Amino acid sequence: MKRAFLWLALSACMPSALVAETTQEVVNKAPNGLALTPPMGWNSWNKFACNVNEQTVRDTADAMVSSGMRDAGYQYVVIDDCWHGPRDANGFITADAQKFPSGIKTLADYVHSRGLKFGIYSDAGRLTCGGRPGSQGHEYQDALTYASWGVDYLKYDWCNTGDRNAQEAYAVMADALRQSGRPIVFSMCEWGTAKPWLWAKNTGNLWRTTGDIFDSFDKQDDAHKSWAHTVVEIVDLNEPLWSHAGPGHWNDADMLEVGNRGMAPNEYRAHFSLWAMMASPLMAGNDVAHMDEATRSILLNKDVIAVDQDKLGVQGHRVWKDGDREIWLKTLADGGVAVLLFNRGQQAATISATANQIGWPAKERVRVRDLWAHRDVRLRRGALTATVEPHGVAMFRLFRL
Ligand code: GLA
Repeated sequence: MKRAFLWLALSACMPSALVAETTQEVVNKAPNGLALTPPMGWNSWNKFACNVNEQTVRDTADAMVSSGMRDAGYQYVVIDDCWHGPRDANGFITADAQKFPSGIKTLADYVHSRGLKFGIYSDAGRLTCGGRPGSQGHEYQDALTYASWGVDYLKYDWCNTGDRNAQEAYAVMADALRQSGRPIVFSMCEWGTAKPWLWAKNTGNLWRTTGDIFDSFDKQDDAHKSWAHTVVEIVDLNEPLWSHAGPGHWNDADMLEVGNRGMAPNEYRAHFSLWAMMASPLMAGNDVAHMDEATRSILLNKDVIAVDQDKLGVQGHRVWKDGDREIWLKTLADGGVAVLLFNRGQQAATISATANQIGWPAKERVRVRDLWAHRDVRLRRGALTATVEPHGVAMFRLFRL
């Protein structure tokens, strides 16, 4: 009783910033209110890796406007690894002067002038995965720097972290961002190692659930197998986590490979549709300034985007599987449902979702939209049937009438 009184008296006369918080208190803080639907945008890594520079970022921002991507919802322009120069004498991070001669603030201002938001990358260890300075020991200083540059989104990686505890490390940066005073989406990238879906709901807005994607539908190879995954491998790792996602806190199946030329158009349509069904962030990873029409038609499919961005925030999941044939459902805010028929096989396959599997009451009137053919179709005896191309999908939305 006495100790409680003393603590109250002490904290009353202490400036609030001086009242120490335990890690657990920081972890339990309310979420930041951002990313109420899965973040959409572009990230430099999948296409440009360490070859990113300010001209590429400007060209991409311009192309996101002229292609219609911005108006379709792609919002964040995120520079991934390798933008950093050294820390200055006071420990402040600087930009690589060769690649970003105008500095990050000027670039962020340019991105904002195009009606887009700006994101950047750091790492919870001493060095990033690309060997640039990480934020360990500089978290609050870096968050203030990002805020002063106008950063709206931070991707925070997990290389070179030694024996750091992930929950603690991400909580520290979440707190630093919060205290910077600027709303900054926090994208956690620790590859699912410490199962962030179990503890990070109030820490990050999205968390990667797997190692890195590479531009392959289902062919794994020796060069990638220790750290990178095909599209179907990611699908199988991310799908079971569906119950942990929701508004403000998403399972991140990694950036898109659509348009990077390693897959056929049917495979990219399947990749994009599965990400939308899983309410994954949709971060384009291609060269937007030079994309072809096939790529544009996938990334700009507004009906599929609407499924991803549905306000209910339910991550869709598989409800039936028979060999290579699968049925997926995602419940939507308007009382309707998105249905995906997925064919993993190398031959075309007929897939039929019965009324029971779709869970649509027999008496309920319905309008069914084919989201890739862009036309209305009919249910036959309450079932939805399609011949699905190899490595392909048919995707539908059922509206209550
Ligand atoms: C890790 C991340 C990737 C990318 C690279 C950059 O591999 O998972 O998404 O950010 O680092 O070095």
